Amino acid sequence: MKISSHLKHLIPYPPGKTIEEIKKEFNIPGKIYKLNSNENPLGPSPKVLEVLESYLLQIHLYPESSYQELKKALAEKWNVLPDQIVLGNGSNEVIELLFKTLINPRDEIIISKPSFLMYEKFAKIYNTKIKLVPLNHQLKHDLNKIVKVITKNTKIIFLDHPNNPTGSVLNEKEWEIFLNSLPSHILLVIDEAYGEFVEDASIPSGIEFLKAGYKVLILRTFSKAYGLAGLRLGYGITFLELSKVLDSVRQPFNINLLAYKAGLAALQDKEYINKTIKIVKEGRKYLTQNLTNLGLKVYPSQANFIMVEFGEKAEETFKKLTTQGILVRPLKAYGFPTALRISIGLPEENEFLVKTLKNLLQK
Ligand SMILES: Cc1ncc(COP(=O)(O)O)c(C=O)c1O
Repeated sequence: MKISSHLKHLIPYPPGKTIEEIKKEFNIPGKIYKLNSNENPLGPSPKVLEVLESYLLQIHLYPESSYQELKKALAEKWNVLPDQIVLGNGSNEVIELLFKTLINPRDEIIISKPSFLMYEKFAKIYNTKIKLVPLNHQLKHDLNKIVKVITKNTKIIFLDHPNNPTGSVLNEKEWEIFLNSLPSHILLVIDEAYGEFVEDASIPSGIEFLKAGYKVLILRTFSKAYGLAGLRLGYGITFLELSKVLDSVRQPFNINLLAYKAGLAALQDKEYINKTIKIVKEGRKYLTQNLTNLGLKVYPSQANFIMVEFGEKAEETFKKLTTQGILVRPLKAYGFPTALRISIGLPEENEFLVKTLKNLLQK
């Protein structure tokens, strides 16, 4: 047996540790404050739980494989056709479908450094040339440089918007210039995993670009604002020519029955989603102010996390927070070894974090 040489040095995606892992590793009996994976701090929607319970007795059956009901609900939400929606086992799967569908030998992708790690990971799996463009001095996607490295072999540009791990966004003018500089052989993927948390109303959403006729695919997920990270459900919205092929490439039952039904219920639970967005926006403001007051540099974020600069104390702070039951994300894998990414929690979680950090930094 011979393993393909381009796969030999792949390392597994570095996920945030789970509550069980941390309790075991550090022997922590009490509450764990999980601020390391940008999940929904409210827990699941009660309406979703009700629906899930009612479908538990059907898990011996395959789900309806075209997922029409969910596609219809999403199409109504975005005012597009149901066939323009491509569902995935998390938006991660839609990213992989793009590689499976579009990438040929010699094709290149362009991504920012840092951005969501899975673009690079899939590129490595599919043996695709990667062009990495560092974020600019404002820690935003460097659109001018991205345009400069485009070649005839560039197939896909991935932009997470807001960016993970910085939370930065692009304004209307920046988008306009960029979109009009893109050659027609390129697909632009705008990953809006954190789109619900953007507060600045002047920041455009990718759906406007799709409707204006640009060759874009917008990624959205149920893992963050909708609180379904554990069920794995995400989707892409794109032009029909592409969505139809992506849909024919996916596995027949890529969305499991519970994720399918939970997605439908989550979309209807407006109260939960509004509450989530309010908690995130208030918590983001609170943490930004209070951590800045502690003398820390907090980068402006429009996502459900903030990136905070700790200088040479980053690793030590991460370890000390962990032993006190507060999980945050070190950013070494993203190329920011002196910063930590902190997900916005419930008000009491945010307050506990500020109090703990205050004590740690005074020592
Ligand atoms: C920018 C970005 N895109 C996509 C994802 C993956 O989402 P999903 O859970 O839908 O696969 C994440 C998860 O952290 C993310 O940060």
